[in-house]
Amino acid sequence: MKISNNKMLITGGASGIGLGLTERFIHENNTVIICGRRESVLKEVSDKFPSVITRVCDLTIEAERTALFNWVSENHSDLNVLINNAGIQQWINISDIDFFQRAKNEIAINIEAPLHLTSLFMNLKSLETIMNVSSGLSFVPLSKVPVYAATKAFIHSFTLSSRYLLKSKNIEVIEIIPPALNTDLGGKGIHDAAPPVSDFINAIFEQLKEGKNQLTFGFSEAMAKASQEDIKNAFNRMNPA
Ligand SMILES: NC(=O)c1ccc[n+]([C@@H]2O[C@H](COP(=O)([O-])OP(=O)(O)OC[C@H]3O[C@@H](n4cnc5c(N)ncnc54)[C@H](OP(=O)(O)O)[C@@H]3O)[C@@H](O)[C@H]2O)c1
Repeated sequence: MKISNNKMLITGGASGIGLGLTERFIHENNTVIICGRRESVLKEVSDKFPSVITRVCDLTIEAERTALFNWVSENHSDLNVLINNAGIQQWINISDIDFFQRAKNEIAINIEAPLHLTSLFMNLKSLETIMNVSSGLSFVPLSKVPVYAATKAFIHSFTLSSRYLLKSKNIEVIEIIPPALNTDLGGKGIHDAAPPVSDFINAIFEQLKEGKNQLTFGFSEAMAKASQEDIKNAFNRMNPA
């Protein structure tokens, strides 16, 4: 994809990795629209970057996803990039009393939302690129976040199929594969020891400029290239007996 002169929607673009993408894409001279549930957090970003366009939206709700698409179609019909970034991570166990309810919510935001938005936004005549945010855990699960890891394996697989299926429509599909990074994912403090988002953003922009469609860094780079044996060893390290 070209790095500048795009109009893009970044879901969850007001915090963490989404904010890192927002800041960098603004810096590279793009028009950026961001959405999320928290109006105050969206406003903090638009106060700092007045060119940013914001929209409050809960992407777990199908009607809100459709309303978001209709609003973009009516007001930003020249949008050419969709970035499916919003997601949550839940530290849960199958034996938890509320396991299924929480799993359903995690599946709604991490899987249903990107699938539905893809099926809607591919109909925009101007759409050229879809970027999906998966994870290093797409390749090897961490059983402390069993549903999260499975949703990311799903996104990795769906991205490969989408890339193939949307080729005939001239829509490029790029996978952003972060390793653990220092954001509020999973709750404040959980990822404090992880590398900063800025290092990751710098690395993936270099890869974007080289024309790559699978953007990796550190652990995710190792896992994306790993053999079955490497994956088995990583699983055993991450999930000790
Ligand atoms: N940080 C990591 O270690 C890591 C590693 C691999 C992959 N990732 C992936 O990177 C993506 C971004 O995560 P992050 O680390 O940047 O976490 P984050 O700081 O918690 O950001 C998540 C973003 O998603 C938005 N969001 C969550 N639920 C939403 C909903 N129902 N509707 C609309 N927006 C919603 C949040 O906004 P509101 O709360 O305002 O709705 C927030 O802006 C996720 O897909 C995550 O799985 C992160």
